[in-house]
Amino acid sequence: MLKLPGDLVQRLRPSFEGKSVCVTGGCGFIGGHLVDALFGLGARVTVIDDLSNSTPQNTADLIDLDPDRVRFIHASILDEAALEAAMLPHPSTAAAGSSQFVFHLAAMSSVPRSIAEPERSLEVNTIGTMRVAHAAHKARAKRVIYSASSSAYGDITGPDSGPNAGKQSKLESMVPAPLSPYAVGKLSGEHIMRAWAASYGLSTVSLRYFNIFGPRQPADSPYSAVIAVFAKKLLAGEPPTIFGDGSQSRDFTFVSNAVLANLLAAASPRALAGEVVNIGSGRAIDLNELYRHVARMCGVPHMEAVYQPARPGDVKHSLADIHAASDLIGYHCITPLEAGLDDTLAWYRQIYADQRG
Ligand code: UD1
Repeated sequence: MLKLPGDLVQRLRPSFEGKSVCVTGGCGFIGGHLVDALFGLGARVTVIDDLSNSTPQNTADLIDLDPDRVRFIHASILDEAALEAAMLPHPSTAAAGSSQFVFHLAAMSSVPRSIAEPERSLEVNTIGTMRVAHAAHKARAKRVIYSASSSAYGDITGPDSGPNAGKQSKLESMVPAPLSPYAVGKLSGEHIMRAWAASYGLSTVSLRYFNIFGPRQPADSPYSAVIAVFAKKLLAGEPPTIFGDGSQSRDFTFVSNAVLANLLAAASPRALAGEVVNIGSGRAIDLNELYRHVARMCGVPHMEAVYQPARPGDVKHSLADIHAASDLIGYHCITPLEAGLDDTLAWYRQIYADQRG
């Protein structure tokens, strides 16, 4: 389980203890860590997940620990009846009629997968998000906290010249310019959050994640995120692939930061109505540098990567300005890249050692 700073846990506990919360995509990589944190804070958690890109193990372990506080609904967010059931107050708090926070993390993630399956991507990420928002409205949820994506920005860049040319951090005030079906779908989810706040009075907030990584991130799919793929290959002594020349940069953000952002956004006493904030570390690194760093950490500093053409829809530079998140919900980066990589590689080392028996 991730470690969140003790003082923050103390401060956040009253917002969640004994409260019903619903987590869509709660069996996924980020969702699973969020469910752990909510469970640790004393919440009663309903997970709805279709297991299309996730495993039920983590949720099953929590159900074993405390079946009264964790419930699992195996269904897609396209299934309105299942959403309605998931957002009823948790059976053990029904008498108190407590309203819920809805953390919406279910999605068809991955830019390249969305290019291969655009219709499915938009169906899940846009129609699915609309159904989550509407179910939350009908259930009188207290707030929906939506997992949005930095991909919405596309290739918007800073000034044309000077040291920050093309590399300036992304600000929420910039006009988004999505480059992939995935980015379109995630951006439309933000618009749904704002529109449902305006049309139905539903409190909503969108968290634009910047390349989240960490333990449990799947490494086995052709659509896996880069740190997971690098770790898997390098620990197996195989050369990973770098798409493009490796000069593209990303604000790689350890998953504890995303978990914290969700908790702070839910607990905020402000009347949120569709605000959008970046959730990143505020620091970017290029792929070549990331590769060298991970190769060193995996004990194969001289392993050369294989270079292949850049992926279609790939953004060149991505770096979060996190001032708005700090102002709105008090967010700050609690785990920087290096510490996050240490935890992440320790986890991959462990599971691959376990698999080898
Ligand atoms: C994008 C979003 C991110 C979102 C994610 C969902 C941007 C800037 N970021 O991530 O917020 O959470 O989609 O999937 O749009 N790469 C390699 N070798 C590999 C795999 C990837 O070189 O084996 C490269 C990619 O071409 C890319 C970078 O690494 O340039 C990061 O790729 P990936 O981890 O897939 O994430 P993004 O597409 O940046």
